[in-house]
Amino acid sequence: MEFTLEATSKNARACTIKTAHSTIKTPVFMPVGTLGSIKALDMDDVLNVLGAEIILANTYHMYLRPGDETVAKMGKLHKFTTYPKSFLTDSGGFQAFSLSDISKPKENGIEFRSHIDGSKHFFTPKKVIDIQNNLGSDIMMILDDLVALPATQERIKLSIERTTAWAKESIEYFRSKQAKGIGQEQNIFAIIQGGTDKAFRTKSATELCALDYDGFAIGGLSVGELNNEMYDTVEHTVQYMPKDKPRYLMGVGTPEDLIENIERGIDMFDCVMPTRNARNGTLFTSFGKINIKGAKFKEDEAPIDPECKCITCQRYSRAYLNHMFRAREITYFRLATIHNLHYYLNLMREVREAILEDRFAEYKEVFYKKRAN
Ligand code: GUN
Ligand code: ZN
Repeated sequence: MEFTLEATSKNARACTIKTAHSTIKTPVFMPVGTLGSIKALDMDDVLNVLGAEIILANTYHMYLRPGDETVAKMGKLHKFTTYPKSFLTDSGGFQAFSLSDISKPKENGIEFRSHIDGSKHFFTPKKVIDIQNNLGSDIMMILDDLVALPATQERIKLSIERTTAWAKESIEYFRSKQAKGIGQEQNIFAIIQGGTDKAFRTKSATELCALDYDGFAIGGLSVGELNNEMYDTVEHTVQYMPKDKPRYLMGVGTPEDLIENIERGIDMFDCVMPTRNARNGTLFTSFGKINIKGAKFKEDEAPIDPECKCITCQRYSRAYLNHMFRAREITYFRLATIHNLHYYLNLMREVREAILEDRFAEYKEVFYKKRAN
């Protein structure tokens, strides 16, 4: 992976990340394709309509269904899904934590039950690397131990100790496989934990950033803490992260969260929000969120967002989308998903331009001003 820091505007960064499959311009939002597909979209939409250079898939889900060995036999993620650009795969630590009623972090890994059939599984740091080698993602994530907030000091301490121990085991295993010719085009990121406790974040970041990783993520946020606690934690943690590697904030967030965290030095984001909200009727616009099911849109001829250049807004009215949502027409899901993802990806393109021209602060001011009306 080649990483170039092109410009900064205070702490906000514009970078490029070159993987074996695409050149990613940051700040970047990665659409979530849990099962190797962005719900309601065709890969042609993802590639040509949205122009996404990187998408996310999940180890946990693809291991359970269709199975990572099947994906490997079908030519790995790129060939299987036909998406030729970059994939990032999450390790499964978070999904085991959030989806299984019975998920037990242990000394050597995480025991969990499948949310599909209740079968028992055990993820270890090595096992999730083997699975992600089979998936062939461009960026894989280590197995981490995260905790729901609020949590006790003891539980957070255990989480960062385990995550560091697993990170050491993971990097050694990953690099030794590469030395044997496995996963040579793949990259691996570690995940900083520590809740909202600054001392724990310092410790976790310092320990992990000393290891030979290709990039670093901040995990364990957007799990029940206040927005300002998240922003303060990120602001504190980035100080201990290298300037010459990508910084990824996992599972975040709203458009406002993206702006606030870019300002604090984050390069990469992922979240189910634009795709999931689209399906629930919540659409993002330059003047804030709307819910398309509202009666006030029944005879509204305007597009979702008059400023939006997406194919949905070029063609369809709020009235038509309101009707399709209420009638549960399948086509609604595609059009709404395209609009919301276009909004997120376009926001990142605009922010990048602003950083390159060193006017991020002005951009942010206008961003908030439009929402206040
Ligand atoms: N997705 C959102 N937050 C996290 C996290 O802390 N760890 C992992 N593995 N995935 C996440
Ligand atoms: Zn639109």
